[in-house]
Amino acid sequence: MKKKMAVIGSCSMDITLITPHRPAQGETVIGTDIHISPGGKGANQAVAAARLGATVYMVGCIGSDMYGEMIRENLSREGINVAYLAELPDEHTGTAYITLADGDNSIIVMRGANNAVTVSYIESIWHGIADADLVLLQNEIPLPTIQYIIDRCDKEHIDVLLNPAPMLSLAEVYLDKVRYITPNEHELELLYPGLNLEAALQRGKGRLLVTQGAQGVAYWQDGIKTAPAYRVEAVDTTGAGDTFNGAFAAAILQGQDLESSIRFGNAAASLSVQKLGAQGGMPHLEAVREVLK
Ligand code: RIB
Repeated sequence: MKKKMAVIGSCSMDITLITPHRPAQGETVIGTDIHISPGGKGANQAVAAARLGATVYMVGCIGSDMYGEMIRENLSREGINVAYLAELPDEHTGTAYITLADGDNSIIVMRGANNAVTVSYIESIWHGIADADLVLLQNEIPLPTIQYIIDRCDKEHIDVLLNPAPMLSLAEVYLDKVRYITPNEHELELLYPGLNLEAALQRGKGRLLVTQGAQGVAYWQDGIKTAPAYRVEAVDTTGAGDTFNGAFAAAILQGQDLESSIRFGNAAASLSVQKLGAQGGMPHLEAVREVLK
């Protein structure tokens, strides 16, 4: 039977403003374009995994508004199960305001309905999560919910991949309970204060993958290893990390080993940055196989 992935996280609408240069403090600049498209780290990772053949359930909350409707339709079109995506009449769908200059972004997230992914909501739909082979989590839902899910998955022997973005401090006891954790270098400093990369990787053994942008992904397998990133011209890096996480998770569920799952994630991420929008460039399986050749 095909393995099941439950992504528990944020669904937002991304409002991307394209500008020749990033405004400095107190400066006004004239934008050249505006792009409105589905995002949110949770939904992005769900889409990345689904496009690569994974069976994905999206667990989260949207508002009863136009953005929420667009997000639900988008996830369904991608073949993602939305039975546990709650629509809340008193909430606004989450939004992210993205400034895109020189292919790189700065983001402000308004969590909106993503704040309603509470412990009691998760308890109420746990039957939809209990048979998952892998749970994917990010830091755009409330911290108590993240802690509850990690604890419960640990007790019920469900593997968790935690992408600790955006940065939030989480006690080490939780880090030890997840199967994989995928910080970037800044997030790593907060998770393992005072440890350098090597010491953190040694401590995290096998479960810690540090994404280093253009340098690739560092991990531990009988010593430090780095899976290099593919060199490409980036149009928009938004969602590159999400693509890596979704693709890596899909590969792990398909039975690939750690190293080839990381390479698979890197190949998918290299394709995602070549198009506009968090989900715009997320590849299907054939395209990733081409890169890996
Ligand atoms: O990781 C990229 C995502 O972060 C965007 O889609 C935006 O919604 C923010 O949450």
